[in-house]
Amino acid sequence: MATEPTAEPTAGSAAGSTAGSGAHPAPVLRQHAEDAFAAELAALAAQDDRPRPERWRLSPWAVATYLTGGELPDGTVVTPKYIGPRRIVEVAVTTLATDRALLLLGVPGTAKTWVSEHLAAAISGDSTLLVQGTAGTPEEAVRYGWNYAQLLAHGPSHDALVPSPVMRAMADGRIARVEELTRIPADVQDSLITILSEKTLPVPELGSEIQAVRGFNLIATANDRDRGVNELSSALRRRFNTVVLPLPATLEEEVEIVTRRVGQLGRSLDLPELPGGAEQIRRVVTVFRELRAGLTADGRTKVKTPGGTLSTAEAISVVTNGLALATHFGDGVLRAGDVTDGILGAVVRDPVADRQVWREYLEGVVREREGWKDFYRAAREVGA
Ligand SMILES: Nc1ncnc2c1ncn2[C@@H]1O[C@H](COP(=O)(O)OP(=O)(O)OP(=O)(O)O)[C@@H](O)[C@H]1O
Ligand SMILES: [Mg+2]
Repeated sequence: MATEPTAEPTAGSAAGSTAGSGAHPAPVLRQHAEDAFAAELAALAAQDDRPRPERWRLSPWAVATYLTGGELPDGTVVTPKYIGPRRIVEVAVTTLATDRALLLLGVPGTAKTWVSEHLAAAISGDSTLLVQGTAGTPEEAVRYGWNYAQLLAHGPSHDALVPSPVMRAMADGRIARVEELTRIPADVQDSLITILSEKTLPVPELGSEIQAVRGFNLIATANDRDRGVNELSSALRRRFNTVVLPLPATLEEEVEIVTRRVGQLGRSLDLPELPGGAEQIRRVVTVFRELRAGLTADGRTKVKTPGGTLSTAEAISVVTNGLALATHFGDGVLRAGDVTDGILGAVVRDPVADRQVWREYLEGVVREREGWKDFYRAAREVGA
């Protein structure tokens, strides 16, 4: 008998697909956090003897450890998912155990989505109850919709109702996620107010309501740059505890984040680890940090800041692309030339102004920098 793969914790963090129940399920491109880290979650649950809030898979302490990493009594190593102050994670987790929802706020690429997925995976074992916020998000995506064939044939009934992810989370006592909350039109945002304050979702068509089961809560993310698009009403904001995710404080921290994520992404894309990786990562992160700050790392030279966001997330994709280039077209070493195209693409958003900024940085800072000759040459070649 074939065992049901979804029921089993997978053996390692890079284990195969758990989707589908066929004999040879096709490997998925990206696993949900609860599948990718099933072994860690199972080990944490087995060794967690602290009190758990109703319907939580883990205690708040174990959830925080899952996010920030650590070693368990039996020697299991829990890899850090979020690299940054543990206190931030503790506040976020604690919020979810109260009657307030959690709002993760920050500039692009500060791991808001990533943290929200891992929190939901650790607390509810399910990170998929997700509403993607856009300017076109309808009320049905937050409340419920109808199956029109059923509705026309039999009239309004529970069977004809199509619950939103939020409604399902309420009924099951799980964590729901709302991405990019501030992009959602104000009237749709408002439908969250009753849900979060009364913990109930009325269904007037059926003369009934869905009452949230204990364990239900909601994590929303919002981007700093969207401020003013659809500002949260103060009534809604009061229902949230806001946790701001900062940019990585130091070069070392950001290098660690990029190294770790490039390693994971590389493995999932079957890219080998290449020599030269550590050096190029350090350079990409240095360039991004200096341009972001408008100042060189030694604090001596001011530089202009380009229009692009230059987030950690972009540094990760520049290096991952470089790795792919070097693997398929290179000589087995990750070289400066493999990342300079990507850097140029990230820095130069405005073809005129940003190109000027980049050229000044290249000539004024990179050219004279010790040990960066190859980088300077490669960057000149891609058309600075
Ligand atoms: N402090 C960090 N610790 C671990 N990973 C990080 C950190 N900062 C960024 N990352 C990585 O950056 C990538 C992008 O993060 P994510 O998409 O969650 O950002 P975001 O804040 O949601 O951005 P956006 O505002 O554009 O939606 C993820 O792969 C994540 O692992
Ligand atoms: Mg996001």
